[in-house]
Amino acid sequence: MVAQSMDRLVPFIAALPTAPNHHMDGAQKLVRSLREPLPEKGAPFRRLLGQLFERVIPFGLNTAGPGYLAYIPGGGLFHAAVGDLLAGAVNRYVGIWQAAPGLVQLETNVIRWFADLVGLPAGAGGLLTTGGSLANLAAVVAARHDRLGEHFSDGVLYTSALVHHSVYKAARVAGFRADQVRSVPVDAHFRLDVDALAAAIATDRTAGRRPAMVVASAGTTATGAVDPLPAIAALCGREKLWFHVDAAYGGFFAFTERGRAALVGIDRADSVTLDPHKGLFLPYGTGCILVRDLQTLRAAHQIPASYLPTSESDPACWDFADLGPELSRDNRGLRVWLPLKMHGAAGFRRDLDEKLDLALDAHARIAALPQIDMVAPPDLSLFAFRVRAPTPELGDVATRQLAQAINDRGHVLLTGVEVNGRWLLRVCVLSFRTHQKQIDELVADLESALAATPC
Ligand SMILES: Cc1ncc(COP(=O)(O)O)c(C=O)c1O
Repeated sequence: MVAQSMDRLVPFIAALPTAPNHHMDGAQKLVRSLREPLPEKGAPFRRLLGQLFERVIPFGLNTAGPGYLAYIPGGGLFHAAVGDLLAGAVNRYVGIWQAAPGLVQLETNVIRWFADLVGLPAGAGGLLTTGGSLANLAAVVAARHDRLGEHFSDGVLYTSALVHHSVYKAARVAGFRADQVRSVPVDAHFRLDVDALAAAIATDRTAGRRPAMVVASAGTTATGAVDPLPAIAALCGREKLWFHVDAAYGGFFAFTERGRAALVGIDRADSVTLDPHKGLFLPYGTGCILVRDLQTLRAAHQIPASYLPTSESDPACWDFADLGPELSRDNRGLRVWLPLKMHGAAGFRRDLDEKLDLALDAHARIAALPQIDMVAPPDLSLFAFRVRAPTPELGDVATRQLAQAINDRGHVLLTGVEVNGRWLLRVCVLSFRTHQKQIDELVADLESALAATPC
């Protein structure tokens, strides 16, 4: 089965650069044809594999392709897929330390490496989650438990108006009402306005509410802005608020010197969300929550059960089941550990540095075009712009048309976002497969699309 899979995978991956960047024609028909009752009898693997590669997989977005500059790219390192194959095939249980001490230690190593990367102290720890959304949820739950206790109906969370929606979801799932979450305005650079934050906290205190947590972004999804982390950290310190940094998009740039400079202050966080399936280029399904003091995560989640072994007392031996809502879970450690061990930090640093260079190059060339307004230059590898037009409404229309025209050319895929009521086109460079060629194609397609439109 593995050999047959490889016969399909090798040409599939080789063809990624020339595969359509999106393919939806006939998708409805396809999904109708895929609906079927549970088969009574089995089918040969080769036939199922053919169905997958010929009919099922080609539809949708080419998220693994080099021209994918949409949303937040990841790429999907093959090494991680091999790690998953090994993990699933041996099927050791990593929910509790005793069941697989060696594999749990590898996963613990990964989390320790991440904590070191962002500068958290020795007592820090965390958990690999399925993504950034559940990492943000873990942070909200830990903060709620630590700062507000069991009764939190008067607690308040603060974040910027441009924070990822998973933070609002996390607050709701963690039991906060919508009116307990403050959406603080951003400044002209789309970064959380610290004066407005301080004012919001003061207003809530005066009204007898309990400010509890601030969520800052280290790279917003909309424009890539890194919030002023040192000023927010200082404010949180003075106000005794939990300081969470959602670094799902930007966190792994800490591998690079320029990234560390942009992320200064992240080491003062009480918790940090990282997303290895973004900045570490892994396949979808791996996020990470780090907390400054592992005990805070444990205290928020741990509940003993008589049918389970007693939790480990050695602080270096972690029972993942005590750190989050899951008991049984997949072995997420191997898919992160294997690529990190095989490439080393140097491999990731080099690739992430290249992404920063590519984004700077694309930004400079696009900003120089007379028809373009560069709305949000890159703090890291994401920037946003729009077409200049006589009115904002015409600018929206022209920017949407430009996106369509670029995507239709098929080399790169871009997505847009609405910020402050205006439509922006984003470029996010984060796939290990994206290189100078794709940036040159992006700029050439942009120029020719602009030349062909009246605006
Ligand atoms: C800044 C930020 N936070 C959180 C998330 C949610 O991460 P995930 O999709 O892994 O759940 C995203 C996803 O794009 C993001 O960009």
